[in-house]
Amino acid sequence: MACIAIVTPRLSAQDTAATHFVNSLLGRMTLEEKAGQLNLLRGAGVPTGPASAPGSDSSIITGRVGLFYGVRGLSETRRIQRIAVERTRLRIPILFADDAIHGYHTIFPTPLAEAASWDPSAAEASARVTAIEVANDGIQWTYAPMVDIARDPRWGRIVEGSGEDPYLGSVFAAARVRGFQGASPRVIATAKHFVAYGAAEGGRDYNTAEVSDSTLAQIYLPPFKAAIDAGAMSVMAGFDALNGVPMHENRRLITGLLRDTWHFGGIVVSDYTGIMELLHHGVAGTRAEAAERAINAGVDADMVSEIYVNELPGLVRSGRVKLATVDASVRRILRAKYELGLFNDPYRYGDSTAPDTLFRGEARRIARESIVLLENRQHTLPFSKNIKTLAVIGALAADSASALGPWAAIGRPEQAISVLTGIRRAVSSGTSIIYGTDASAAQNADAIVLVVGENRDMSGEASSRALLDLPGDQEQLAEAVIATGKPVAVVLMNGRPLSVGWLADHAPAMIDAWFLGSEMGNAVADVLFGDYNPGGKLPVTFPRTVGQVPLYYDHLPTGRPPDPNEHYTSKYIDEPWTPLYPFGYGLSYTTFAYDSLTTKVVGDTLHVSAVVRNTGDRAGDAVAQCYTHTLVAHVSRPVRVLQGFRRVALASGERRTLTFAIPVGRLGVDEPTTVDVYVGPSSAEGLLGHATVRP
Ligand code: BGC
Repeated sequence: MACIAIVTPRLSAQDTAATHFVNSLLGRMTLEEKAGQLNLLRGAGVPTGPASAPGSDSSIITGRVGLFYGVRGLSETRRIQRIAVERTRLRIPILFADDAIHGYHTIFPTPLAEAASWDPSAAEASARVTAIEVANDGIQWTYAPMVDIARDPRWGRIVEGSGEDPYLGSVFAAARVRGFQGASPRVIATAKHFVAYGAAEGGRDYNTAEVSDSTLAQIYLPPFKAAIDAGAMSVMAGFDALNGVPMHENRRLITGLLRDTWHFGGIVVSDYTGIMELLHHGVAGTRAEAAERAINAGVDADMVSEIYVNELPGLVRSGRVKLATVDASVRRILRAKYELGLFNDPYRYGDSTAPDTLFRGEARRIARESIVLLENRQHTLPFSKNIKTLAVIGALAADSASALGPWAAIGRPEQAISVLTGIRRAVSSGTSIIYGTDASAAQNADAIVLVVGENRDMSGEASSRALLDLPGDQEQLAEAVIATGKPVAVVLMNGRPLSVGWLADHAPAMIDAWFLGSEMGNAVADVLFGDYNPGGKLPVTFPRTVGQVPLYYDHLPTGRPPDPNEHYTSKYIDEPWTPLYPFGYGLSYTTFAYDSLTTKVVGDTLHVSAVVRNTGDRAGDAVAQCYTHTLVAHVSRPVRVLQGFRRVALASGERRTLTFAIPVGRLGVDEPTTVDVYVGPSSAEGLLGHATVRP
């Protein structure tokens, strides 16, 4: 199993004190109070998900709730906390959670976009800012990072994760956990949705996933393991039934793998009504059965189903659930509250003096790092800031709500910079901007920025699409605009890979700008006018057409590899088998060349080195990517596996030697074999070297 090590828990004096505190509190709790600690209710003001009754004050006073999510604003978290610590029998503080997925007040690029930066320090930084902002509101727990690997762009939630690759996903998962939890204020990170939720059949959200054990181990589990190794204090169960077993009752994976094998000691939280949905899955006939299955599987907290709080006491009394099982879950909740210091000071999170300003500098820096240059024929970009008349075309250009993307927490559209506003601010005073939503705006322009793609409601939860084309009549709009023959830069806004083959063939220039958050327009303008040289790379394959899905770079070889000249090979008769844009692809305003690849095995490490050189005339960032292919093993190995990457800033003419140390254990070698090693600018190009490797 890739990068899965067993961690042996160590007991420190601090642990002993925590254990003692938690046990003595547990000893004073009634069964009802215990069930109450596992009850997670929703506060008012959460924009997504089906409605549920917000927790009332009386449920807090009677100890029927231990956890809240979606309570926004410091005065409200304070008010609820005051009830918990002043008016309940045991004065146990509440733990407050929220969906701060890519920011809270300041909104950063959506996680998929941010993964396109191939800069984990960016993800760590945005998570840190998010932690500060949620903590200011009295919140100690976020339902992020989403670490689901997604290989089907029809699935709308692909926007919430790091894309298709388990290694890139693992590096970003760990970075985000460090950002949330690694400094004060520490905010609990939640690796979600355990597991293989992203493998939903047909890309339909909430759907069944059929995944073999080896694919689970090699593709879907590693980012969870990485998050847990980085210290993630919480894991959320997925809505999926995996190989027929709904995850909310999946004892083998939650208790067996997560807890017993990986020694995860934190909270496993259900997803929204996930425990109740065991009835819909048809594995529980009553709410009591649903509670029994979920708690026995190892799900500690019940998000909004209110099944644990109502059913667990009776189940324990009738002997269907062991008291020890409930106690173990309650301990984990109390332990988290203890570790965050809430028993010492229930108000230690929250800062009423925090300025109401956004972290705009960080947001802009990370946003521009996330932009991917897809096309740039005849150096169309960057544009001059002195263009006389610049047309900005497309409804999305002025849509600052869509700039924020889905899951924008308390981010306010009126505080977000739209692409249009960013461009207006960037151009010189002599430039006139014509804005329009149809091609007529192009007629009198010297150059055109055409903004097309998806609005923010088209991706995210429950926003699966059967088509990956530009929605509506945007392709016709693009055809008309490009037919003018003028310099056109297409700005794509999207939460998923889009099949934009026509644009790829015809657009003079095209950038993928995703949903970049509060500073979207400024970041896009930085790239369009050359104040920033784009260096992002795709974290996910772009298919030519939805019919190719699933399409990902690290597929297994077949017995009949695709060959355009051979009929009986693995391909289509009506479309090429190759992607529109491969994983890891992205251009720059400068050019890079790679040379001097060397490989050497020392002990159980494969050392790779290569030189990357900026061969163009301006500074820029290269993202060097190292892939391997293990040629012969007892089970066939993918044609490429990402093993390392590095984003480096290089001045014109500058060269840098990059090294990658790859544990042989990651290569899937079980007999002496040759490993092909590639280093280059994407999964589809690069230098090739070889190494002889033994298990
Ligand atoms: C989503 C979770 C989210 C939860 C709370 C669910 O519908 O699947 O990712 O954390 O709602 O908003």
